[in-house]
Parts: sequence; C-alpha cells; structure tokens
Amino acid sequence: MRHETLEKNSLIMAILVAVVISIGGLVEIVPLYFLPSTIPHVEGVKPYTPLQLEGRDIYIREGCYNCHSQMIRPFRAETERYGHYSLAAESMYDHPFQWGSKRTGPDLARVGGKYPDAWHIQHMEDPKSLVPESVMPRYPWLKNTLLDTSLTRKKMQVMKKLGVPYTDEDIEKADESVKDKTELDALIAYLQGLGTAVKRPNI
Ligand code: HEC
Repeated sequence: MRHETLEKNSLIMAILVAVVISIGGLVEIVPLYFLPSTIPHVEGVKPYTPLQLEGRDIYIREGCYNCHSQMIRPFRAETERYGHYSLAAESMYDHPFQWGSKRTGPDLARVGGKYPDAWHIQHMEDPKSLVPESVMPRYPWLKNTLLDTSLTRKKMQVMKKLGVPYTDEDIEKADESVKDKTELDALIAYLQGLGTAVKRPNI
C-alpha cells in the first residue's frame, strides 16, 4: 500500500529520488576531498625543460594540434600503432593539454624517440621528402628563426603557479638552456620528450 502512495505522489517521489541521488553523489564525491591527488603517480613524468616549454609554444603557435592529437585511446588498434595508451599523469604538467581528437596526421603522444633528430629536421623542412604522400605543410622558417626567450622565465613562473613543480633555481637557470637556440631546436626538444616517461611495452 505504501508503495502505491509513493508511486502516485510525484512530489514525494521526486524528493526521495533527490535523496537517493544525493547519497550516491556524496559516496562518490566526498572521498575525493581526502585524496592527495586524483591522478595516480607515474614515475618518470617530469615537467618540461625550458627548451621543451618553448617548443610547446611553437607547436601551439603553428597550429600543429589542428592535425595531430596527443591522446592514445585504450583500444587495440591504437595501442598496436602508437604504443601504450595515454595516462592522465602524462599530461599533468601540460597547461593547456594537447589531447585533441582531430587526426589528419598520426597521434603524437608517443612520438618522442621514434625518429632521430635529423629525421625531424628534414621532416619539418619538407615532409614530402620523407613521406611522399604527406599533406603536412612545410615549416622551413623554424630552423632560421632564433627563439624569442624574453618570456621563458615568466612562462615558467606561470606554470609554477598552475602547479608545475619548478624550483626558483630552475627558473633562475632557464635562460642558459634556451640561449642561441632556434625555434626548430625547441620544437624538436618538445617532440622528442613526448610520451617517453612511460616505458611499458605495447598492450
Ligand atoms: C595539415 C595537417 C598537418 C599539420 C598542420 C601538421 N601536420 Fe604533422 N603530419 C601530418 C600528416 C598527414 C602526417 C603523416 C605523414 C608525414 O609523416 O608527413 C604528419 C606527420 C607528422 C609527424 C610524424 C609522426 C609519425 O609518427 O610518423 C610529426 C612528428 C609531425 N607530423 C609533427 C608536426 C608538427 C610539429 C606540426 C606543427 C609545426 C605539424 N606536424 C603540423 C599532418 C599535419
């Protein structure tokens, strides 16, 4: 009988539904406040070096993300092609992350170490010279353009505010490592670091 009253009275039903959902919500949400981090730690994930950080900005400036994603999904077709699927911790120092979903070109999440630097130098100069059917544009100016490093320290300070564990010493010494580098040096340093923290075999 009680059940019948409940089912026929939409207000009581709505209140009880809200109560049940709230309990479910609390059980899911409250524990999160007591965890030091919701991202499982992955050994080897390090903040970008100053040169890589600058390279990342070139990557964003040139719009590479319009054709390349950086997120390997946990499907067999993807892991066989690209390697271990991407883990949350791998982009914990990426602000903003470059996951994306547009893949005119291949995913780059684990491109680090896949090719020698010389390959990248030629590929950026003229992709078709290495992959004749490539539709990737040429970026010949990168190797002739000196990196603008006037904001390197500032960028690191901002990243620090966002939670990237740069020390004052790292920031202090940043200028040294980006001095006299070209934009191409920075971009390649960035690409060669992508996805190298996780050394697990393909699954
Ligand atoms: C118009 C789309 C497009 C844009 C923009 C683009 N790419 Fe590509 N990229 C491709 C395609 C297609 C391929 C596959 C053929 C090849 O290797 O050239 C590719 C391949 C690559 C590869 C080799 C990946 C592998 O695993 O073999 C790298 C590295 C790369 N691109 C980096 C970049 C960077 C860095 C930028 C920005 C400066 C960029 N791409 C911009 C389309 C694009």
